[in-house]
This record gives sequence, C-alpha cells and structure tokens, in this order.
Amino acid sequence: MTDWTRRKFFFSTLGAALAASTQRLFGATSSASAPGVFAARPAAASDFRPIIISSANGVTHLDDGMAILKSGGDTLDAALAVVTKVEDDPNDDSVGYGGLPNEDGVVELDASVMHGPTHRAGAVASVQKIKNPSLVAKAVMEKTNHVFIVGSGALQFAEDEGFIPMNLLTERSRIAWLAWKAQSSENWRPGLDSPQWKAQLATLLDTPEKMAWREHIEQVVAHPITGTINCLAVNSKGEVSGTTTTSGLSWKIAGRVGDSPVIGAGLFVDNEVGGAGSTGRGEENIKISGGHTIVEMMRRGSSPTDACLEALHRVARNYQAFPERLKQFHIQFYALNKHGEYGAGSLWGKHPNGARVQYAVHDGTKAQLLPTTPLFDEVGGDY
Ligand code: GLY
Repeated sequence: MTDWTRRKFFFSTLGAALAASTQRLFGATSSASAPGVFAARPAAASDFRPIIISSANGVTHLDDGMAILKSGGDTLDAALAVVTKVEDDPNDDSVGYGGLPNEDGVVELDASVMHGPTHRAGAVASVQKIKNPSLVAKAVMEKTNHVFIVGSGALQFAEDEGFIPMNLLTERSRIAWLAWKAQSSENWRPGLDSPQWKAQLATLLDTPEKMAWREHIEQVVAHPITGTINCLAVNSKGEVSGTTTTSGLSWKIAGRVGDSPVIGAGLFVDNEVGGAGSTGRGEENIKISGGHTIVEMMRRGSSPTDACLEALHRVARNYQAFPERLKQFHIQFYALNKHGEYGAGSLWGKHPNGARVQYAVHDGTKAQLLPTTPLFDEVGGDY
C-alpha cells in the first residue's frame, strides 16, 4: 500500500466508524425505546407551548419576554428582554445598575446565558462598570471561542464590544455601603469631637428623600442580600434558553463570585430536557451544582418541582452537622422543561418579613406570581 492509499484507507475507516458511533450516540438520546429517558416522551410540535418563568423580581417584565416568544423570536432573546430591564432598574439593588457593592464600595456583577438550540453558553464574573452583564455574557458566547471571562478581562472585552462603562453605584447603594462601613468600624462614624459622635445613619440620611431609605438600608446592612434574577424560556418549537444575572452578595470580598455565572450551578440548560436556575446563597448552590442536578433529575422523569426539591434536599443535607444554621440563609431553584412544565422550590416557605416566597410565570395569558414549593414551610433567613 502506498502512503496515500494507506491514509485514504485510514480516513475512510475512521469516517465509517465515526458515522456509526455518531448514529449510536445521537440515536440513543432520542430513541423511543430508551426507558426513563426524558426525550423518549412524544415530541410532536403541538406538544410545545411558549412559557417564560423567572424569580419574583422579573414579574413586571415577563410580558416583554412572552411577546418575543409569541412572535417566533429566540428563547434567549426573550429571557434577556426580561432580565435586562431588572439590570437597568436602579431600585433593584441585587442586580445590575444600583446593585449593592462589595466591601470596597465597588459594584461587581456576574451573569451567565445558555442557548439551548445551539448548545452554547457564555458567562462573565466580577465585571465592573457595565450595567448589563447578561448581554456581555451573550457576547462572550457569540463572539469568542471562550465560555467564561472574569474581572478586568471581562471589562476590557465588554468595552471592546462597544458596551459603555458607567458608575453603577446609585446614591442609595452608596449610602447603604457607607452605613454598612459605619456599623463595622467606628472610624467611619463622626468622631469624638463631633456633636453627632457615634451617629451612623443620621448623618448619612440628611434629606427627606434619603430619610425614606432608612428602613431598607437598615435591612440590607443587617442582612446582606444575594438577590439575583434567573429567567428561563421555552418556545412553541420546544427550544429552551436561560440567563442568570446578579450583583452577588452585598459587602462581599472583592472578587467573590457566586453561583450565577457558574454554568451548571446558577444556570443550566439542555435543549433536550429543559433548564434550571437559582437565586439566593450561591455558595450553597455551587457545592451541589444545582442547575445541572435539576436538569438531570428532569431528564430521568422528575417534575420540575420535584427536581428543585431534590436540589434543596442536597443543600440541606450539607448542614446535617448544624441544622440550625440552615435558618440563616435562603436559596431558591426554578425549573422549566421543554414541554412547558415548570416549578420552583425554596429552602424556606417565607421570607424574614413573613411574606411567602414566590416566583413569576407567564403562561401565554398573563404574568403572575406563584408560591414556590418550600422544603421547610417556615420563615428563613436572608443571608
Ligand atoms: N445567587 C447569587 C449569588 O450568590 O451571588
């Protein structure tokens, strides 16, 4: 055999082997005979309907996402239409512009996107000065050979892509940060020689407008938040995408990254199955890869709600040695499968203020808040 013939023989044998194994690989996932495999369910076009769900803070914007789904738009564009409104909102201090800063007073944002139909993902973490990290994550997915860019590299990338840097600290967030510092250190309160010695908020809230912020600021100083918005969408073709975006834990150490930008934790989508995301204490979610866990549970036949509860069960199990500490924090999971079935679970049934934990759903008729299914039907912490 000449060199060329040998090479030709090698490639045609390799080609045939690849074709056979690819057929086995892709045939297996859609085979109706594969027991317990999610994709074995009937998948006629009429099975699918547009649904969009999010954490409760997205409820007023779900109409925008649903309009995109109904007009045949892309599922990731629909989810982004929802979360970018929250990123732009200075009054949501857990996401984007107005997000509470790190311990140095710098707003650092994290976000991820997953586009089910093309099996792609993008994420950014600790990105400063750009109010829509979800769109930067999308640009990472679409414009680069990478999935995850962080810190100064993420800011540089965003600027190169035409995102305009800005000051993300609103006056309310800045004063909340100063109040937190004043609580942590006497050096950040009026001194011995001041008529307002030791006064904290009084000197910061020096106008009627600022005085109206008192209750909120006292709350976020006492209970650092990990707000966040997650949004998941499915269209009438059964295509699924999602995004999660956050300013992370308030007063965090600079560079702390939570679960939101971590693919498989704060967000996971598999177009054959569905998607899942999370809000709340990211540290707990990262340890159980919640987003991935939930999608894999759904693949094996769990309902979205049961899959969320399984993830919460794993979070709780990690505190077997100190069960009372579970009361310190909150975590929520959201799940949507490609057939439009959805659900959400929360570690606790109620927020510290007594309000029921909820999530937002638009089923094509209207957006509404629904109660999450709690693992424990009691009041939880906000940490
Ligand atoms: N879940 C948002 C965070 O922990 O940063």
